[in-house]
Amino acid sequence: MPEPLVIVGCGGHGREIFGVVQAINEAQGDPWKVLGFVDDAPSDVNLGRLERLGVPFLGAIPQLAAMPNDVRYVIGIGDPRVRAKVAGKIGPGMRAAAPIIHPAATVGLDNRFAEGVVIFPGARVTTNVTMGRHVHLNQNVTVGHDTVLDDFVQINPLAAVSGDCHLHERVLVGTTAALLQGLTVGMGATIGAGACAVKDVPAGSIVKGVPAR
Ligand SMILES: CC(C)(COP(=O)(O)OP(=O)(O)OC[C@H]1O[C@@H](n2cnc3c(N)ncnc32)[C@H](O)[C@@H]1OP(=O)(O)O)[C@@H](O)C(=O)NCCC(=O)NCCS
Repeated sequence: MPEPLVIVGCGGHGREIFGVVQAINEAQGDPWKVLGFVDDAPSDVNLGRLERLGVPFLGAIPQLAAMPNDVRYVIGIGDPRVRAKVAGKIGPGMRAAAPIIHPAATVGLDNRFAEGVVIFPGARVTTNVTMGRHVHLNQNVTVGHDTVLDDFVQINPLAAVSGDCHLHERVLVGTTAALLQGLTVGMGATIGAGACAVKDVPAGSIVKGVPAR
């Protein structure tokens, strides 16, 4: 029996995740039945895009609370701060977030993923990687050995996180950025697109460029 699933957020990231779920269904014999999307402020343009995809819009996020307990959810919001806020509204423990891992992602041995993790196609996770709640790895990201990604971390396409790194809650790594091995990135920090981080990044800071400053 497919498990019912709701996607939270009908923007680009949420609709990309719908595509990941479709790919999982094709490869694995329909483990999920997508009931539709919820969103507190969907634009008309995005509602039109949902219509083209043939997926219903179910209403605002609180609609999720009224659904049966077996309905799972995934948060389709790319900004880690907004994703954390939305997760807080849904309420931890109220219902289980689904792990959504594309069949064309490569996941090695001895990794630990918490609920709500999303991994896009082409992403590679090697070994002894720990990912907290609602961590998202976008297309073609690599994450090296023994790295820890805390809750809500977002890694954008083609970024490379080396081994032995620790990215704290709500860190955003921009597209094509690189992090050298063994770095700590503090809570809520942002590493700009194309940056190369060569030393620890303080909490709440924005660094960019090569080397990242
Ligand atoms: C770095 C970033 C967070 C913005 O930081 P910011 O300090 O708020 O940057 P601003 O937009 O105010 O720009 C400030 C300056 O930094 C430059 N800048 C912005 N992003 C940069 C980047 N990634 N690398 C180098 N320089 C950058 C701007 O050109 C501007 O330069 P100027 O002052 O000489 O005109 C953002 O540009 C970024 O890279 N985000 C990642 C986005 C991403 O991965 N998107 C993909 C989604 S899938």
